[in-house]
Amino acid sequence: MKILLLGSGELGKEFVIAAQRIGQTVIAVDSYKNAPAMQVAHGFEVINMLDGTELDRIVAKHKPDFIVPEIEAIRTERFYDYEKQGIIVVPSAKAANFTMNRKAIRDLASKELGLKTAAYRYATTALELQKGVEAVGMPCVVKPLMSSSGKGQSTIKTTDDIEKAWQYAVEGSRGDVVEVIVEAFVKFNSEITLLTVSQNNNPTLFCAPIGHRQERGDYQESWQPARISDQDLYEAQDMAEKVTEALGGAGLFGVEFFLANDGVYFSELSPRPHDTGMVTLAGTQNFNEFELHLRAILSLPICSITLEKAGASAVVLASQNSINPTFTGLEKIAALPKTDFRIFGKPSSRPYRRMAVALTNDTLETPIEEITERAIQAAALLKVHS
Ligand SMILES: Nc1ncnc2c1ncn2[C@@H]1O[C@H](COP(=O)(O)OP(=O)(O)OP(=O)(O)O)[C@@H](O)[C@H]1O
Ligand SMILES: [Mg+2]
Repeated sequence: MKILLLGSGELGKEFVIAAQRIGQTVIAVDSYKNAPAMQVAHGFEVINMLDGTELDRIVAKHKPDFIVPEIEAIRTERFYDYEKQGIIVVPSAKAANFTMNRKAIRDLASKELGLKTAAYRYATTALELQKGVEAVGMPCVVKPLMSSSGKGQSTIKTTDDIEKAWQYAVEGSRGDVVEVIVEAFVKFNSEITLLTVSQNNNPTLFCAPIGHRQERGDYQESWQPARISDQDLYEAQDMAEKVTEALGGAGLFGVEFFLANDGVYFSELSPRPHDTGMVTLAGTQNFNEFELHLRAILSLPICSITLEKAGASAVVLASQNSINPTFTGLEKIAALPKTDFRIFGKPSSRPYRRMAVALTNDTLETPIEEITERAIQAAALLKVHS
Protein backbone atom coordinates (compact mmCIF):
# COMPACT_ATOMS: atom_id res chain seq x y z
CA MET A 1 0.00 0.00 0.00
CA LYS A 2 1.06 3.56 -0.64
CA ILE A 3 0.66 6.03 2.20
CA LEU A 4 0.89 9.80 1.91
CA LEU A 5 1.87 11.11 5.34
CA LEU A 6 0.89 14.75 5.88
CA GLY A 7 3.23 16.07 8.56
CA SER A 8 6.71 14.65 9.15
CA GLY A 9 7.58 15.28 12.80
CA GLU A 10 8.71 12.80 15.42
CA LEU A 11 5.29 11.11 15.61
CA GLY A 12 5.25 10.71 11.84
CA LYS A 13 8.76 9.28 11.94
CA GLU A 14 7.75 6.47 14.31
CA PHE A 15 4.70 5.81 12.16
CA VAL A 16 6.90 5.49 9.06
CA ILE A 17 9.23 3.09 10.86
CA ALA A 18 6.23 0.94 11.84
CA ALA A 19 5.02 0.98 8.22
CA GLN A 20 8.48 0.16 6.83
CA ARG A 21 8.67 -2.85 9.11
CA ILE A 22 5.68 -4.43 7.41
CA GLY A 23 6.62 -3.48 3.88
CA GLN A 24 4.42 -0.43 3.23
CA THR A 25 5.47 2.55 1.13
CA VAL A 26 5.36 6.03 2.63
CA ILE A 27 5.80 9.46 1.06
CA ALA A 28 6.40 11.99 3.84
CA VAL A 29 5.22 15.58 3.45
CA ASP A 30 5.98 18.74 5.39
CA SER A 31 6.72 22.43 4.92
CA TYR A 32 10.48 22.00 5.28
CA LYS A 33 13.14 19.65 3.96
CA ASN A 34 14.76 16.87 5.97
CA ALA A 35 11.94 16.71 8.51
CA PRO A 36 12.21 13.69 10.87
CA ALA A 37 9.77 11.39 9.03
CA MET A 38 11.31 12.25 5.63
CA GLN A 39 14.61 10.78 6.84
CA VAL A 40 13.09 7.29 6.97
CA ALA A 41 10.44 7.45 4.20
CA HIS A 42 10.60 6.24 0.57
CA GLY A 43 10.01 9.72 -0.78
CA PHE A 44 9.13 13.21 0.33
CA GLU A 45 7.39 16.41 -0.73
CA VAL A 46 7.87 19.91 0.63
CA ILE A 47 4.67 21.96 0.33
CA ASN A 48 2.45 24.32 2.30
CA MET A 49 -0.23 21.87 3.45
CA LEU A 50 -2.72 24.68 4.06
CA ASP A 51 -2.66 25.30 0.29
CA GLY A 52 -5.43 23.16 -1.28
CA THR A 53 -3.98 23.41 -4.79
CA GLU A 54 -0.61 22.11 -3.61
CA LEU A 55 -2.31 19.25 -1.77
CA ASP A 56 -4.30 18.36 -4.90
CA ARG A 57 -1.10 18.35 -6.92
CA ILE A 58 0.78 15.87 -4.74
CA VAL A 59 -2.25 13.64 -4.25
CA ALA A 60 -2.64 13.45 -8.06
CA LYS A 61 1.10 12.84 -8.46
CA HIS A 62 1.43 10.00 -5.92
CA LYS A 63 -2.07 8.46 -6.13
CA PRO A 64 -1.88 7.09 -2.56
CA ASP A 65 -4.14 4.39 -1.15
CA PHE A 66 -4.14 6.19 2.21
CA ILE A 67 -3.72 9.76 3.36
CA VAL A 68 -2.49 9.86 6.96
CA PRO A 69 -2.50 13.31 8.59
CA GLU A 70 0.07 13.81 11.33
CA ILE A 71 -0.79 17.43 12.14
CA GLU A 72 -3.87 19.66 12.28
CA ALA A 73 -2.74 22.54 10.06
CA ILE A 74 -3.84 21.08 6.71
CA ARG A 75 -6.49 22.28 4.23
CA THR A 76 -8.68 19.44 5.53
CA GLU A 77 -11.75 20.56 3.53
CA ARG A 78 -10.03 18.90 0.54
CA PHE A 79 -10.16 15.54 2.33
CA TYR A 80 -13.86 15.01 1.50
CA ASP A 81 -12.96 15.14 -2.17
CA TYR A 82 -10.09 12.68 -1.80
CA GLU A 83 -12.47 10.31 -0.04
CA LYS A 84 -14.83 10.55 -3.03
CA GLN A 85 -11.89 9.65 -5.27
CA GLY A 86 -11.59 6.37 -3.34
CA ILE A 87 -8.59 7.31 -1.22
CA ILE A 88 -8.87 6.36 2.45
CA VAL A 89 -8.35 9.44 4.57
CA VAL A 90 -7.27 8.40 8.07
CA PRO A 91 -9.25 7.98 10.18
CA SER A 92 -11.87 9.79 8.07
CA ALA A 93 -12.21 13.14 6.30
CA LYS A 94 -14.78 14.14 8.91
CA ALA A 95 -12.49 13.30 11.84
CA ALA A 96 -9.59 15.31 10.41
CA ASN A 97 -11.80 18.22 9.43
CA PHE A 98 -13.76 18.41 12.70
CA THR A 99 -10.76 18.22 14.99
CA MET A 100 -9.00 21.02 13.11
CA ASN A 101 -11.59 23.44 14.50
CA ARG A 102 -12.37 23.41 18.23
CA LYS A 103 -15.93 24.55 17.54
CA ALA A 104 -16.86 21.58 15.36
CA ILE A 105 -15.51 18.98 17.76
CA ARG A 106 -16.80 20.69 20.92
CA ASP A 107 -20.33 21.09 19.59
CA LEU A 108 -20.32 17.47 18.42
CA ALA A 109 -19.13 16.23 21.82
CA SER A 110 -21.27 18.46 24.00
CA LYS A 111 -24.44 19.20 22.04
CA GLU A 112 -24.83 16.17 19.80
CA LEU A 113 -23.37 13.44 21.99
CA GLY A 114 -24.08 14.98 25.40
CA LEU A 115 -20.57 14.40 26.79
CA LYS A 116 -19.59 16.30 29.93
CA THR A 117 -17.31 19.23 29.08
CA ALA A 118 -16.38 22.51 30.76
CA ALA A 119 -19.03 25.22 30.24
CA TYR A 120 -18.06 27.15 27.09
CA ARG A 121 -18.97 30.03 24.77
CA TYR A 122 -17.59 31.35 21.49
CA ALA A 123 -16.58 34.92 20.68
CA THR A 124 -15.59 36.84 17.56
CA THR A 125 -14.91 40.20 19.28
CA ALA A 126 -13.50 41.36 22.61
CA LEU A 127 -17.01 42.44 23.63
CA GLU A 128 -18.44 39.00 22.89
CA LEU A 129 -15.58 37.51 24.87
CA GLN A 130 -16.57 39.67 27.83
CA LYS A 131 -20.12 38.28 27.61
CA GLY A 132 -18.74 34.76 27.32
CA VAL A 133 -16.62 35.26 30.43
CA GLU A 134 -19.70 36.43 32.31
CA ALA A 135 -21.56 33.31 31.22
CA VAL A 136 -18.90 30.69 32.09
CA GLY A 137 -17.41 32.50 35.10
CA MET A 138 -13.81 33.11 36.19
CA PRO A 139 -11.23 31.70 36.10
CA CYS A 140 -11.62 30.61 32.49
CA VAL A 141 -9.43 29.60 29.57
CA VAL A 142 -9.43 31.33 26.16
CA LYS A 143 -8.21 29.50 23.04
CA PRO A 144 -8.31 30.37 19.34
CA LEU A 145 -10.64 27.97 17.49
CA MET A 146 -7.79 27.14 15.16
CA SER A 147 -4.58 26.53 17.07
CA SER A 148 -2.61 23.76 18.71
CA SER A 149 0.17 23.25 21.27
CA GLY A 150 -1.34 25.94 23.46
CA LYS A 151 -0.77 28.74 20.93
CA GLY A 152 -2.82 31.83 21.72
CA GLN A 153 -4.15 30.19 24.89
CA SER A 154 -4.41 32.08 28.19
CA THR A 155 -6.28 32.08 31.47
CA ILE A 156 -8.55 34.93 32.57
CA LYS A 157 -8.61 35.51 36.31
CA THR A 158 -10.01 39.04 36.52
CA THR A 159 -11.92 41.26 34.06
CA ASP A 160 -8.67 43.18 33.46
CA ASP A 161 -7.32 40.09 31.65
CA ILE A 162 -10.08 39.97 29.02
CA GLU A 163 -8.66 42.44 26.50
CA LYS A 164 -5.17 40.91 26.80
CA ALA A 165 -6.55 37.39 26.35
CA TRP A 166 -8.43 38.49 23.23
CA GLN A 167 -5.32 40.07 21.68
CA TYR A 168 -3.18 37.07 22.55
CA ALA A 169 -5.70 34.67 21.00
CA VAL A 170 -5.93 36.73 17.81
CA GLU A 171 -2.13 36.67 17.46
CA GLY A 172 -1.94 32.93 18.11
CA SER A 173 -4.74 32.05 15.70
CA ARG A 174 -4.10 30.01 12.57
CA GLY A 175 -6.37 30.38 9.56
CA ASP A 176 -8.49 33.16 8.18
CA VAL A 177 -11.35 33.30 10.70
CA VAL A 178 -10.62 34.84 14.08
CA GLU A 179 -12.85 33.27 16.68
CA VAL A 180 -12.14 31.97 20.17
CA ILE A 181 -13.64 29.55 22.64
CA VAL A 182 -13.80 30.51 26.30
CA GLU A 183 -14.09 27.60 28.73
CA ALA A 184 -14.65 27.47 32.46
CA PHE A 185 -11.40 26.45 34.15
CA VAL A 186 -11.70 22.83 35.28
CA LYS A 187 -9.98 22.35 38.64
CA PHE A 188 -8.76 18.93 37.71
CA ASN A 189 -6.69 16.62 39.92
CA SER A 190 -5.03 15.11 36.87
CA GLU A 191 -5.41 14.84 33.12
CA ILE A 192 -5.19 11.77 30.94
CA THR A 193 -5.02 10.70 27.33
CA LEU A 194 -7.03 7.62 26.50
CA LEU A 195 -5.60 6.08 23.34
CA THR A 196 -8.61 4.59 21.58
CA VAL A 197 -8.35 2.29 18.57
CA SER A 198 -11.28 2.13 16.14
CA GLN A 199 -11.10 -0.93 13.94
CA ASN A 200 -12.93 -1.89 10.78
CA ASN A 201 -15.18 -4.87 11.60
CA ASN A 202 -13.66 -5.37 15.03
CA PRO A 203 -14.39 -3.90 18.44
CA THR A 204 -12.94 -0.61 19.65
CA LEU A 205 -9.97 -1.12 21.97
CA PHE A 206 -8.46 1.09 24.67
CA CYS A 207 -4.90 1.43 25.87
CA ALA A 208 -4.28 1.83 29.58
CA PRO A 209 -4.76 5.54 30.42
CA ILE A 210 -1.76 7.85 30.08
CA GLY A 211 -1.20 10.61 32.63
CA HIS A 212 0.61 13.79 31.61
CA ARG A 213 1.74 17.20 32.78
CA GLN A 214 1.50 20.26 30.54
CA GLU A 215 3.55 23.45 30.53
CA ARG A 216 3.26 26.33 28.03
CA GLY A 217 0.74 24.22 26.10
CA ASP A 218 3.03 21.24 25.55
CA TYR A 219 3.44 18.05 27.48
CA GLN A 220 6.55 17.66 29.65
CA GLU A 221 6.14 14.14 31.03
CA SER A 222 3.71 11.33 30.42
CA TRP A 223 3.27 8.02 32.21
CA GLN A 224 1.31 4.82 31.75
CA PRO A 225 -0.75 3.58 33.50
CA ALA A 226 -2.24 6.71 35.09
CA ARG A 227 -3.99 6.38 38.43
CA ILE A 228 -7.75 6.45 37.89
CA SER A 229 -10.81 5.01 39.61
CA ASP A 230 -12.74 2.23 37.87
CA GLN A 231 -15.76 4.52 37.62
CA ASP A 232 -13.81 7.36 35.98
CA LEU A 233 -12.12 4.96 33.58
CA TYR A 234 -15.43 3.45 32.60
CA GLU A 235 -16.91 6.90 31.92
CA ALA A 236 -13.87 8.02 29.93
CA GLN A 237 -13.99 4.88 27.79
CA ASP A 238 -17.69 5.35 27.18
CA MET A 239 -17.16 8.96 26.05
CA ALA A 240 -14.16 8.01 23.91
CA GLU A 241 -16.13 5.30 22.16
CA LYS A 242 -19.03 7.66 21.45
CA VAL A 243 -16.92 10.46 20.01
CA THR A 244 -14.65 8.24 17.91
CA GLU A 245 -17.65 6.38 16.53
CA ALA A 246 -19.32 9.66 15.57
CA LEU A 247 -16.18 10.75 13.71
CA GLY A 248 -15.93 7.45 11.86
CA GLY A 249 -13.12 5.51 10.23
CA ALA A 250 -10.39 3.28 11.56
CA GLY A 251 -7.26 4.35 13.39
CA LEU A 252 -5.92 5.37 16.77
CA PHE A 253 -7.26 8.49 18.50
CA GLY A 254 -5.82 10.32 21.52
CA VAL A 255 -8.82 11.36 23.61
CA GLU A 256 -8.03 13.91 26.32
CA PHE A 257 -9.89 14.08 29.64
CA PHE A 258 -9.70 16.01 32.90
CA LEU A 259 -10.23 14.06 36.13
CA ALA A 260 -11.89 16.28 38.71
CA ASN A 261 -13.66 15.76 42.06
CA ASP A 262 -17.00 15.80 40.28
CA GLY A 263 -16.00 13.28 37.63
CA VAL A 264 -14.51 13.09 34.14
CA TYR A 265 -14.60 15.95 31.64
CA PHE A 266 -14.03 15.44 27.91
CA SER A 267 -11.51 18.03 26.67
CA GLU A 268 -10.49 17.35 23.05
CA LEU A 269 -9.01 14.66 20.84
CA SER A 270 -6.45 13.96 18.16
CA PRO A 271 -7.55 11.60 15.38
CA ARG A 272 -4.00 10.17 15.26
CA PRO A 273 -1.18 9.17 17.62
CA HIS A 274 -0.81 11.61 20.49
CA ASP A 275 2.45 13.15 21.68
CA THR A 276 1.85 11.94 25.26
CA GLY A 277 1.50 8.44 23.74
CA MET A 278 5.25 8.42 23.05
CA VAL A 279 5.39 6.66 26.41
CA THR A 280 4.33 3.52 24.51
CA LEU A 281 7.81 3.63 22.90
CA ALA A 282 9.08 2.61 26.34
CA GLY A 283 7.75 -0.89 25.73
CA THR A 284 4.70 -0.51 27.94
CA GLN A 285 2.39 -2.37 25.54
CA ASN A 286 2.41 -5.31 23.11
CA PHE A 287 2.13 -2.70 20.31
CA ASN A 288 3.12 0.97 20.51
CA GLU A 289 0.64 3.65 19.45
CA PHE A 290 2.14 3.96 15.97
CA GLU A 291 1.90 0.23 15.29
CA LEU A 292 -1.69 0.27 16.53
CA HIS A 293 -2.58 3.19 14.25
CA LEU A 294 -1.03 1.43 11.26
CA ARG A 295 -2.70 -1.91 11.93
CA ALA A 296 -6.10 -0.32 12.38
CA ILE A 297 -5.68 1.67 9.16
CA LEU A 298 -4.67 -1.40 7.15
CA SER A 299 -7.62 -3.37 8.64
CA LEU A 300 -5.22 -5.83 10.25
CA PRO A 301 -7.11 -7.20 13.24
CA ILE A 302 -5.76 -6.31 16.69
CA CYS A 303 -6.85 -9.07 19.05
CA SER A 304 -6.04 -7.21 22.23
CA ILE A 305 -3.84 -4.47 23.64
CA THR A 306 -1.93 -5.64 26.67
CA LEU A 307 -0.07 -3.53 29.22
CA GLU A 308 3.28 -5.26 29.69
CA LYS A 309 5.14 -2.73 31.83
CA ALA A 310 4.70 0.61 33.50
CA GLY A 311 6.58 3.41 31.74
CA ALA A 312 7.22 7.12 31.40
CA SER A 313 8.48 9.63 28.88
CA ALA A 314 10.06 13.04 29.47
CA VAL A 315 10.79 15.57 26.75
CA VAL A 316 14.14 17.14 25.88
CA LEU A 317 13.66 20.72 24.71
CA ALA A 318 16.05 23.06 22.92
CA SER A 319 16.87 26.39 24.49
CA GLN A 320 18.22 28.28 21.46
CA ASN A 321 17.84 28.86 17.75
CA SER A 322 20.32 26.80 15.77
CA ILE A 323 20.93 24.89 12.54
CA ASN A 324 21.94 21.22 12.70
CA PRO A 325 22.06 21.05 16.49
CA THR A 326 24.18 18.34 18.12
CA PHE A 327 23.66 16.32 21.29
CA THR A 328 25.83 15.29 24.19
CA GLY A 329 25.13 13.03 27.14
CA LEU A 330 24.17 9.99 25.07
CA GLU A 331 26.60 7.77 26.98
CA LYS A 332 25.24 9.03 30.29
CA ILE A 333 21.61 8.28 29.49
CA ALA A 334 22.59 4.97 27.86
CA ALA A 335 24.25 3.88 31.12
CA LEU A 336 20.94 4.07 33.03
CA PRO A 337 19.02 0.82 33.58
CA LYS A 338 15.57 0.33 32.02
CA THR A 339 16.01 3.57 30.12
CA ASP A 340 15.99 4.42 26.42
CA PHE A 341 15.76 7.56 24.30
CA ARG A 342 14.89 8.88 20.85
CA ILE A 343 16.60 11.81 19.14
CA PHE A 344 14.28 13.10 16.44
CA GLY A 345 16.89 14.45 14.00
CA LYS A 346 15.27 17.85 13.54
CA PRO A 347 17.45 19.97 11.25
CA SER A 348 17.06 23.11 13.35
CA SER A 349 16.12 24.16 16.86
CA ARG A 350 14.38 27.09 18.53
CA PRO A 351 13.61 27.75 22.19
CA TYR A 352 11.27 25.08 23.63
CA ARG A 353 11.27 22.99 20.44
CA ARG A 354 10.98 19.28 21.33
CA MET A 355 14.17 17.58 20.11
CA ALA A 356 14.28 14.22 21.88
CA VAL A 357 12.51 12.12 24.48
CA ALA A 358 13.72 9.96 27.37
CA LEU A 359 11.87 6.70 28.05
CA THR A 360 11.87 4.58 31.19
CA ASN A 361 10.00 1.48 32.25
CA ASP A 362 9.69 -1.00 35.11
CA THR A 363 7.39 -3.66 36.46
CA LEU A 364 3.69 -2.87 36.86
CA GLU A 365 4.18 -3.06 40.64
CA THR A 366 6.69 -0.17 40.68
CA PRO A 367 5.20 3.20 41.75
CA ILE A 368 4.59 5.21 38.56
CA GLU A 369 5.95 8.38 40.22
CA GLU A 370 9.32 6.68 40.60
CA ILE A 371 9.45 5.69 36.93
CA THR A 372 8.42 9.20 35.88
CA GLU A 373 11.07 10.80 38.09
CA ARG A 374 13.69 8.57 36.43
CA ALA A 375 12.51 9.74 33.00
CA ILE A 376 12.85 13.39 34.06
CA GLN A 377 16.36 12.80 35.37
CA ALA A 378 17.32 10.87 32.24
CA ALA A 379 16.01 13.64 29.96
CA ALA A 380 18.13 16.18 31.86
CA LEU A 381 21.28 14.27 30.82
CA LEU A 382 20.68 14.80 27.10
CA LYS A 383 21.87 18.26 26.08
CA VAL A 384 21.14 20.07 22.82
CA HIS A 385 23.96 22.25 21.44
CA SER A 386 23.94 24.79 18.64
N1 LIG B 1 -10.93 24.33 30.54
C1 LIG B 1 -9.72 24.04 31.02
N2 LIG B 1 -9.53 23.97 32.36
C2 LIG B 1 -8.31 23.69 32.88
N3 LIG B 1 -7.22 23.49 32.13
C3 LIG B 1 -7.33 23.55 30.80
C4 LIG B 1 -8.59 23.82 30.17
N4 LIG B 1 -8.41 23.81 28.83
C5 LIG B 1 -7.09 23.54 28.64
N5 LIG B 1 -6.45 23.38 29.80
C6 LIG B 1 -5.00 23.05 29.97
O1 LIG B 1 -4.30 23.43 28.80
C7 LIG B 1 -3.79 22.27 28.10
C8 LIG B 1 -3.88 22.47 26.60
O2 LIG B 1 -5.24 22.62 26.23
P1 LIG B 1 -5.80 21.97 24.89
O3 LIG B 1 -5.46 20.53 24.87
O4 LIG B 1 -7.22 22.34 24.76
O5 LIG B 1 -4.94 22.83 23.85
P2 LIG B 1 -4.17 22.45 22.55
O6 LIG B 1 -3.57 23.72 22.08
O7 LIG B 1 -5.08 21.73 21.65
O8 LIG B 1 -3.04 21.51 23.04
P3 LIG B 1 -2.40 20.29 22.24
O9 LIG B 1 -2.52 20.58 20.79
O10 LIG B 1 -0.98 20.31 22.74
O11 LIG B 1 -3.15 19.09 22.72
C9 LIG B 1 -4.62 21.12 28.63
O12 LIG B 1 -3.94 19.89 28.48
C10 LIG B 1 -4.82 21.55 30.09
O13 LIG B 1 -3.66 21.30 30.85
MG1 LIG C 1 -4.63 19.04 24.03
